[in-house]
Amino acid sequence: MKKAIITGATGLVGAAVAKHFSSLGVDVLCLGRQALNQEDVSRHFGVNASYLKLAMKDIESLVEQVDLINWSPGSECVFFNFAWQGHKKLTDGSFEKQLNNAIHSAESVRFAKKLGCIKFVNVGTLEETMIEKFMEGGGNSLYHSKQIDYALAKLASRDMCKMIAYLEKIDYVHTRLSVPLASNLSRGTYIAETLKKIAEGKPYDEPSNKQLFDIVFIEDVAQAYYLIGLKGKNKADYFIGTSKPATLEQYFKKLSYLVNDSSVEELDIDVAIDDDAELFDTEPLCQDTGFVVLTKFEDMIKHL
Ligand SMILES: NC(=O)c1ccc[n+]([C@@H]2O[C@H](COP(=O)([O-])OP(=O)(O)OC[C@H]3O[C@@H](n4cnc5c(N)ncnc54)[C@H](OP(=O)(O)O)[C@@H]3O)[C@@H](O)[C@H]2O)c1
Repeated sequence: MKKAIITGATGLVGAAVAKHFSSLGVDVLCLGRQALNQEDVSRHFGVNASYLKLAMKDIESLVEQVDLINWSPGSECVFFNFAWQGHKKLTDGSFEKQLNNAIHSAESVRFAKKLGCIKFVNVGTLEETMIEKFMEGGGNSLYHSKQIDYALAKLASRDMCKMIAYLEKIDYVHTRLSVPLASNLSRGTYIAETLKKIAEGKPYDEPSNKQLFDIVFIEDVAQAYYLIGLKGKNKADYFIGTSKPATLEQYFKKLSYLVNDSSVEELDIDVAIDDDAELFDTEPLCQDTGFVVLTKFEDMIKHL
């Protein structure tokens, strides 16, 4: 992978991936909606990076725009699609708004192929697998989640992109994340904000969500995408995580113990994940690319 095109490059995941690739000598073309000058571009993404201000609704002009800035994808370029938008956060907004992301993603596959990219790497979420597993189970109970429209749009994105990639003859690799976090907790989701409060010894609200999550630090995520760009297999669906999920309550408790200098061994953090273990399986990713997570949850304390 000598070159990479990255949509959503100004976001949490995209920026980390762009910077990491750039530091490894990959020539990256970053796409986002913000107006950035050359200094911003080097600071955000590193010296090997170029930037195009392009909204996903205008993705059909990508080939022309790339030409205008004299950027050439060459023969080993991989396309990474991270752009996504809800209303106030990734997961909210109307169903239409969520679904538009899937449409833009699917369109991007065509333009990636037109540009001569050899692989299209898309990002999904653990939530999509959960709703899919629920549907397959055919149970009579209701699926409880505040993210149903997001999960459905992510499934649509995965399936449309996969089909178009097949028709266009470009490799398609799907990936899923649960909770990517900046290790200094700089980006403020509810989970990052609560962990920060705990680290500062401030009170926090107990989480009501009993679901399992897998927190993975952004440096590891960036390395995973690098290896996927190099070695990820056509039609694979990789979960990027630690394979050691826990509930939010358990994560929060664990950090409280660490902050108070207590040993986490004293804390019972084993979770029965028999039913959901396959959703967090990182073995296929490890087998195909050699990726293993290097930063442990405990290491966060050093960064804070
Ligand atoms: N963060 C998580 O917890 C999580 C978990 C699982 C999966 N994911 C997936 O990972 C991907 C990246 O997430 P993130 O946390 O990095 O998100 P983020 O920080 O909110 O960044 C979203 C990125 O998408 C770009 N974008 C949004 N709408 C766009 C549009 N209409 N046209 C062009 N660019 C647009 C934004 O550009 P501007 O800033 O320029 O507007 C930004 O660069 C998403 O697909 C998300 O669903 C995230």
